[in-house]
Amino acid sequence: MSGVDVDIITHEILVIGAGLAGQMAALEASRYSDTAVLSKVHPLRSHSVAAQGGVNAPLGNVAPDDWEKHAFDTVKGSDYLADQDSVEILCKNAMTGILEIDSYGAIFDRLPDGRLAQRPFGGGSFPRTCYAGDATGHELMNTLYGELMKNNVRFYEEWLATSLIVEDDICRGMIAINLKNGEAAYFRSKAVIVATGGCGRVYERTTNSHQSTGDGIAMAYRAGAAVCDMEFVQFHPTTLVGTNILISEAARGEGGVLLNAVHERFMERYAPAMKELAPRDIVVRSIQTEINEGRGLGEKGREFVELDLRMLGKDILSQKLPQVYKLARDFANMDAAEECLPVQPAQHYTMGGIRTGNSADSTIRGLFACGECACVSVHGANRLGGNSLAETLVFGKIAGAAALGYIRRKELARIPKAIIERELSSINALFTGGDEHEAEIKKELQKVMWNMVGIFRNDADLTKALKAIRELKAKYANIGVRDECRIFNTELMQAIELGFLLDNAEMIAFGALLRRESRGSHFRTDHPLRDDTNWLRHTILTMKNGTTHADYEPIRITRFRPEARTY
Ligand code: FUM
Repeated sequence: MSGVDVDIITHEILVIGAGLAGQMAALEASRYSDTAVLSKVHPLRSHSVAAQGGVNAPLGNVAPDDWEKHAFDTVKGSDYLADQDSVEILCKNAMTGILEIDSYGAIFDRLPDGRLAQRPFGGGSFPRTCYAGDATGHELMNTLYGELMKNNVRFYEEWLATSLIVEDDICRGMIAINLKNGEAAYFRSKAVIVATGGCGRVYERTTNSHQSTGDGIAMAYRAGAAVCDMEFVQFHPTTLVGTNILISEAARGEGGVLLNAVHERFMERYAPAMKELAPRDIVVRSIQTEINEGRGLGEKGREFVELDLRMLGKDILSQKLPQVYKLARDFANMDAAEECLPVQPAQHYTMGGIRTGNSADSTIRGLFACGECACVSVHGANRLGGNSLAETLVFGKIAGAAALGYIRRKELARIPKAIIERELSSINALFTGGDEHEAEIKKELQKVMWNMVGIFRNDADLTKALKAIRELKAKYANIGVRDECRIFNTELMQAIELGFLLDNAEMIAFGALLRRESRGSHFRTDHPLRDDTNWLRHTILTMKNGTTHADYEPIRITRFRPEARTY
């Protein structure tokens, strides 16, 4: 007898999220345990499938390279905020990660002698990015999914996780809703691995899919876990105007250039050595400066700049950048071989997330996190393109192994009835709630974030934004779901996701307001310099009595002393 009025589903290890990090974790964990993966979408629709340009590893197939050079580029790219011992783990293991997935049959592009091809990417001193055309995430996801199928890993597809169950500071599973029939269940486990991706949908302009609502970060935060460096949000330089669909950095890696309204290759002014292949934070600020100062195109020169790929010609575009070529045709009705593409920055990646150690362990026992929802931290204040996929492979595997180690000799705990009942009643309350509507609150939130917590930030805007977010949270407390149908109730799903978005937004704005310096992606016009004396440290946020509490942790430096960052 469970004593609670809800289905109970038991597995030793639960993975929430079926993107690359979640799948790598599940593959590893399932070798020696009963592991299940829960995903709110079909696994192959997880956002990793949208990753385009590639995955970094210092294979040295095109130019001499080694893990230390990769580590240096990563740390410098991070504006010295990354923890260097974690970066070493990433760079020492990236090659094995790629070779593992290659061995499962992923079809990478190759050099004429059969070794993996590598292309230049932003912030890399060497061509280090392995790729499958410009649909690398798609290729890796399909390959890995096949491996999981082969190993009979259990998937719960179209189940939305709504909360983690934590008792005595130990994670005992989660509550989730089966979107297909609206029924909730308690998933009981010895360990949970969160791999739910980023929270890009807090912004009006983003390359992220609609499901990137930061669920895992918010659930862990609500459960008492520490969350790290949320103020560091990556904006991608080149997204297609109108839809903000990603136009891969690979396009610049293959030779594409950025032009302003007078056809000037303006990156020569901002990053004379690396130009378009400077790290993303620098390219984004350069583009946005051109736009803000009226040297862009569109209305009053303030909407976009141009990405010129014409020099590549139709053959190279079709062969190396087929997706970019097709996206331009399908979403802008343009031929990239003949015309320059209108591009502008948009949110792309969440550098912050659930604080983890090098074993993907969070501050709650039995709760692990990997991929974009985690902050280990290997990306610091600015991630290099190609390092996110590398992180999913390396730290996904580490998370699976660590969870396996953790559950050894552990029994399933008794069922925490009171906690489960509280969580279930908060879901049911949405149906009997008030007059506020999810869509309106979300739209307002996304505008606030884009306009006041965007590429350039300052005290006045951030203060206003935080106030506005808190007012939206108050409105959210009075939200009501009008659609009473239990089958694929997307209004219910989006209402729950909005709660996650609001928590993520509050953490981003709060961390950004407190950090009075500029570093990587976090640029404060009122504090335009990096301040290593006061701010070479991580922001650690926790929820205490319902409010956000900030603390700080020193950066772990092993071999690279902070220096001026020039490109
Ligand atoms: O531009 C891109 O292809 C994105 C890659 C990344 O975010 O790592």
